Amino acid sequence: MKPRWTKIACGLMSVYLLAGPMGRGQQAPASAKPFDLIDWNGGKFIYGADYYPEAWTESQWEKDAIMMQEAGINFVRMGEFAWAKMEPEEGHFDFAWLDRALKVLNAHGIRAVLGTPTASPPAWLYAKYPDIAVMDAKGVRYRYGSRRNYCLHNPDFRAATVRIVTAMAEHYKDHPGVIGWQIDNELSDPRCYDPITQAAFQAWCQRKYRALDTLNVDWGTIFWGHTYSDWRQIPLPWNTLYDTSNPSLVLDFDRFHSDSTREYLDLQAAILRKIAPRQAITHNEMGLYSEIDYYNLNRSLDFVAWDNYPILQKEYTQYSGQGLAHDVMRGSKDNQNFMIMEQEGGVGGWAEFIGHQAPPALYRVWAYQSVAHGADGVCYFRWRTSRYGTEQYWQGILDQDSYRNSRYGIVAQTGKELQQLTPLLHGSKVVSPVALLNSPDSRWALQNQPGVEGFQYDQQLQDFYDAFRRAGVNVDVAFPPSDLSAYHVVVAPALYVTDQGLVDKLTAYVKNGGTLILTFRSGVKDEHNVVTDRTLPGPFADLAGVAIHEFDPQINEEQEVVGPGDTHFPTRYWSDILTPTTAKVLATYGKGYYAGKPAVTVNQAAKGRVYYVGTESKSPVFYDRLISLATQKSLVAINSRIPTGVEVAAREKEGRKIIFVLNYTGTPQTVPLEQAYLNVLTGNAEPMDVQIPAYEVKVLTER
Ligand code: GAL
Repeated sequence: MKPRWTKIACGLMSVYLLAGPMGRGQQAPASAKPFDLIDWNGGKFIYGADYYPEAWTESQWEKDAIMMQEAGINFVRMGEFAWAKMEPEEGHFDFAWLDRALKVLNAHGIRAVLGTPTASPPAWLYAKYPDIAVMDAKGVRYRYGSRRNYCLHNPDFRAATVRIVTAMAEHYKDHPGVIGWQIDNELSDPRCYDPITQAAFQAWCQRKYRALDTLNVDWGTIFWGHTYSDWRQIPLPWNTLYDTSNPSLVLDFDRFHSDSTREYLDLQAAILRKIAPRQAITHNEMGLYSEIDYYNLNRSLDFVAWDNYPILQKEYTQYSGQGLAHDVMRGSKDNQNFMIMEQEGGVGGWAEFIGHQAPPALYRVWAYQSVAHGADGVCYFRWRTSRYGTEQYWQGILDQDSYRNSRYGIVAQTGKELQQLTPLLHGSKVVSPVALLNSPDSRWALQNQPGVEGFQYDQQLQDFYDAFRRAGVNVDVAFPPSDLSAYHVVVAPALYVTDQGLVDKLTAYVKNGGTLILTFRSGVKDEHNVVTDRTLPGPFADLAGVAIHEFDPQINEEQEVVGPGDTHFPTRYWSDILTPTTAKVLATYGKGYYAGKPAVTVNQAAKGRVYYVGTESKSPVFYDRLISLATQKSLVAINSRIPTGVEVAAREKEGRKIIFVLNYTGTPQTVPLEQAYLNVLTGNAEPMDVQIPAYEVKVLTER
């Protein structure tokens, strides 16, 4: 099954809905210089709120703008759900209300990004063109009444999109208070399975494979005699539990969906670039959201923005889920700084709250976590909780009564501090010695065929990520096209689907002296999701110096691994029973018929080393040991004394470190650092053993 529900940690919309579809639009102008968000916002750190003036009386706007200004807010995002108000009838536009709202806000020094409103098309559009609505995999057309209910390939929807985006761009292209555009809102599910989408998928396949014989061979349609004699016979996947569709078809449908989403974004981006070339373009994304290859999507954006909701973490001290999501987002645009378009401003939920109320001080720590991971802008969702609709429970900074509550106080304090820090932050970046390789193809293929129930690609990323963070090491997230050459260590877990280009890149990286960590289920499939006929780990067997002649799916999770060291670590999901060819054994299995057989190995390959980890452990210490082994010769600073629930992350400017110590716990903590630093906010020197109160942040720099 496609676990379309597993996106809870990244996309809020997907907490409640099922999962959601190509050409190439105009690209962001290729520039040697990365986009500078602070310059773009007139030299100010972007500090904002998502604002819905259409839902409040006009007499409220001035009061809001005053309160925003007092809290240091200089930015709003508006308009992304206001299509019905901007185009009340087909082809008739009304922007006067938005002009008035902008005038009020701009007068208080607040600039705006406008959302193109296509995530929530008006009722009249569905009444006239009912086929715009999503058809699910069972062939049922959705009713009108929620949002994100459109088929990306529907020509009437595309025409309506072009009309509203063109009208908005024409109206606001020269507006001095509108500095940019957010395209749509959280492009995502649900996927559409209607006949138009099927025809588009068939055309996508035809463009990719050119000859039907090639597709038949590459997909192995000989299995069950599924050979196609006409492009129009290619079906859509079933999208059901235990989808019996050909995995090659399913993976291409995943790619098609991601490409379709990009094509739709590009359609809008091309209009905006042509009409409003001076305004920047972004999109609000969802971290580890699994349905879109963000690296590919982001080629036509100026910068990445994303929606950060730490409330989705099980425990507020488990900061690293959000940390990884920040780093995925930074990596999806070549490690350029990004902004948060929706930073959590209160507890949330739709029918029920999905978390408990965080101590107000934590909202500040979370905002700083965004900054520590490379955000040059923090915009809270939302200014004020809605009185209406599905999100009456989803708190903004203010509640419906506009009372200056404690969250407002915290937001105002943070706003003041961030402006104080701006000269230091401006031009600084996250620099990491380690990269985690994030392979959309492997994730998609493993979602469809996890092998063992519960096994998740993202968990592998997270296990290693957590270990590096516990050691105070910054981590970049690389995508297959990213340049890996500068990293000391690259972790490429469960690299299930590979192509020759990626194999060559990783091989060259190792041969030039890099340290590569591979884990079980690597090198299993080619780019068509077809199993290799080489001994596993297939194209990585020589590099890793191991052969896998047997494996054991860990259905009952009774296995354990002994080592590194003498420690016994419980394992789960999978055991690759390794036969070293040239590799050295670092750990063995502890139980069953293959007790004593190798589980973890290291191989010297030319100037570099390859670790192969044949299993997943439930124990964090297993990963702490692994990364400490893998990094010992590679200059990565390991600081294993960071207390649990405290994060240490750094940005760098001209070789000078800016260190963020973030205490997510309700108790004071002592954090030993390798040298004494200056506290930038207080101007005082800090001892090497930094004392940090509960739910506090310290921003430190070298003197
Ligand atoms: C985000 C979405 C917002 C709002 C928020 C809270 O995913 O972009 O529009 O819905 O979740 O539910």
